[in-house]
Amino acid sequence: MTSTLLTGIGLLATQDPELGELSDAALLIEDGTIGWLGPRAQAPAADRAVELAGRCVLPGFVDSHAHLVFAGDRAAEFAARMTGQPYTAGGIRSTVQATRQASDQQLRTNLARLAAELLAAGVTTFECKSGYGLDVETEQRSVRLAGELTGEVSYLGAHVVPAGIDRTEYLELVCGPMLQACAPHAKWVDVFCEQGAFDEDESRAVLTAGLAAGLLPRLHANQLTAGGGVRLAVELDAASADHCTHLSRSDIEALAGSNTVATLLPLVEFSTRSPYPDARSLLDAGATVALATDCNPGSGFSTSMPLAIALAVREMRMSPAEAVFAATVGGAKALRRNDIGQLTVGRRADLTVLDAPSYLHLAYRPGVPLVHQVWRAGEPAWTSSALQ
Ligand code: NIG
Ligand code: FE
Repeated sequence: MTSTLLTGIGLLATQDPELGELSDAALLIEDGTIGWLGPRAQAPAADRAVELAGRCVLPGFVDSHAHLVFAGDRAAEFAARMTGQPYTAGGIRSTVQATRQASDQQLRTNLARLAAELLAAGVTTFECKSGYGLDVETEQRSVRLAGELTGEVSYLGAHVVPAGIDRTEYLELVCGPMLQACAPHAKWVDVFCEQGAFDEDESRAVLTAGLAAGLLPRLHANQLTAGGGVRLAVELDAASADHCTHLSRSDIEALAGSNTVATLLPLVEFSTRSPYPDARSLLDAGATVALATDCNPGSGFSTSMPLAIALAVREMRMSPAEAVFAATVGGAKALRRNDIGQLTVGRRADLTVLDAPSYLHLAYRPGVPLVHQVWRAGEPAWTSSALQ
């Protein structure tokens, strides 16, 4: 077993409320996990040392919501939106057509490119959904290809009802043969609970069928309208209710009194020019909040977790500390993981090193690529090209 000491850490923002933030710190990696952390002057000996020259170290970001298996792009739809067209769920169908026509290799290449972007943005764990196949074969291909790159795969056959099939027939497929084909490759079952997609009862049927097939529920809730998605998420003890853009007071209270994380996706509000979710009310009520990218070709095509953090601070009045916590611990909770998201002894050594003295710079310097290095399971996984 070799050990690595990261030393000269200007600020170690552990995201563990008991440990807090340490300045002039060091962190020991042993066997892919964190073996020790503390003041640099007390650091133990290690096989090798990496000097970080005063940089800030954070847990790797956990992106708990992304749609990365697709083909084609919808730049024209984005441009039309910027000149006045509203965002609707229907745009999904144009990506479905392109995705069905793509080969495994084309989907794999696109997915790998987006996964590489996430890594360069400091993301060490990401969730990935199907949902642009919407037939048994392409949904199964989607979850299988996603599983080549992440263990956090969500089956989203219930994204919309595709063209050319009756609604009842499609729901039977989603809860029957399509689920059976996809469940072996997925951990989660997801549904787009929204006007123009699936209503509360349909969503309940999909999530319940997924549960019976051994999958865990999470859902797209209250993105475009204040429907029953959040209520349903709490009822089913879903790991996460995602979007939460239109919430009633009772939705906020229900989330605060539950184990369901409110996952906010500000890159979507940015890219659809929509009002941002009310993060303050959620946090003040005591709900657990996560931030994720929701990278997808329609409602927001960005892999930038740092920009999501900057938007959460600027537009949603989260403090920089709250936003970073939501992008790390919040994401880990939204995936029901306790081995990532925090820098504590025994957790996986997934780290993001910023080319900045503090995480405050993530919001203070929006749009600037501040990620200097990324470590995954104790190994260097990405380094800024400026260093080479
Ligand atoms: O999370 N809301 C549903 N699904 C995606 C958007 C899908 C699309 O427009 O292609 C989302 O925003
Ligand atoms: Fe989504």
